[in-house]
Amino acid sequence: MMWRNRAFMVILLLLVHKIHGGCPPSSCGKITNINHPFRLKGDPEKCGEKRYELGCENNVTVLYLYSAKYHVQSINYKNYTVRVVDPALQHHNLSSLPLRFLSRSNFSDTYAYYTDPYQAGLRASVNWESLSFSHIVLVNCNDSVGEKGKYVESGEWVKWEGKGYSYAIGGDLKAEDLEVGCEVKLVAPTSLSTFDNHSYSSMHTALAYGFEISWIKLPCQKHCSLSYRDCYFDSSNQKLNCGY
Ligand SMILES: *[C@@H]1O[C@H](CO)[C@@H](O)[C@H](O)[C@H]1NC(C)=O
Ligand SMILES: *[C@@H]1O[C@H](CO)[C@@H](O)[C@H](O)[C@H]1NC(C)=O
Ligand SMILES: *[C@@H]1O[C@H](CO)[C@@H](O)[C@H](O)[C@H]1NC(C)=O
Ligand SMILES: *[C@@H]1O[C@H](CO)[C@@H](O)[C@H](O)[C@H]1NC(C)=O
Ligand SMILES: *[C@@H]1O[C@H](CO)[C@@H](O)[C@H](O)[C@H]1NC(C)=O
Ligand SMILES: *[C@@H]1O[C@H](CO)[C@@H](O)[C@H](O)[C@H]1NC(C)=O
Repeated sequence: MMWRNRAFMVILLLLVHKIHGGCPPSSCGKITNINHPFRLKGDPEKCGEKRYELGCENNVTVLYLYSAKYHVQSINYKNYTVRVVDPALQHHNLSSLPLRFLSRSNFSDTYAYYTDPYQAGLRASVNWESLSFSHIVLVNCNDSVGEKGKYVESGEWVKWEGKGYSYAIGGDLKAEDLEVGCEVKLVAPTSLSTFDNHSYSSMHTALAYGFEISWIKLPCQKHCSLSYRDCYFDSSNQKLNCGY
């Protein structure tokens, strides 16, 4: 009986070794599952991929995106997404805002033949439909527009250069929605889909929840032999679907 258990253990260890190339998961703060394709700065050379290197600063896992830093909230290997948040956002402090302007159009998968490690889209090819986040837009207006249409007052908490009337808008701002005398100050993503777009505090909660970005192109290239262009993660069966 004993030898059978031991043999089983050995096989299990060999399997684990094969799967992770001998790299045990790395850990920093609350993120304890840093595995391929990710690597933590300082990990052995062969572990993970350089393009997916994360940092560990003051016990917080940090992801570098377009020369900005984001705090990692969770890594979901199942659906190939990582959730990050702007470091300036504080839960329950409605005056804390993201440091960086970031929207769908910052991501190179908005355009053909992208090569960036992270995508905003949930398919391997360029697409505008299935995105891993939506937007929250902060605007400042010279005159009060009231609670008109999508505009939600954030005035008590947000002051741009100390003057004007500040508003938040959940979802995308179309050109025709922009009122005269109003200026877009910030666009930031959120992956919390259940926020109340009539409440500034709810939109702030959504910002502080953070947003997901995807590395789906990598597994698609690896597992779809014919073509990976239509590859996506199928949430109904929790599997990668090559699209053919
Ligand atoms: C780092 O974060 C982890 C998880 O949040 C915590 O358990 C640990 O005490 C922290 N270590 C330090 C040095 O702050
Ligand atoms: C990915 O998985 C995480 C954790 O289960 C979940 O919260 C998130 O909504 C999923 N995202 C997508 C785009 O499926
Ligand atoms: C809330 O955030 C604002 C803007 O970043 C900051 O000035 C203020 O000190 C914060 N308040 C608290 C209680 O941390
Ligand atoms: C996203 O693009 C905008 C406009 O080009 C730019 O101002 C901003 O810095 C970019 N965000 C990041 C995080 O690089
Ligand atoms: C607010 O959210 C509801 C429900 O998700 C949606 O139907 C509506 O179009 C949104 N309103 C605006 C102004 O974005
Ligand atoms: C707001 O008013 C200032 C001062 O009159 C003006 O310079 C600025 O262009 C106005 N902003 C918009 C978006 O119209």
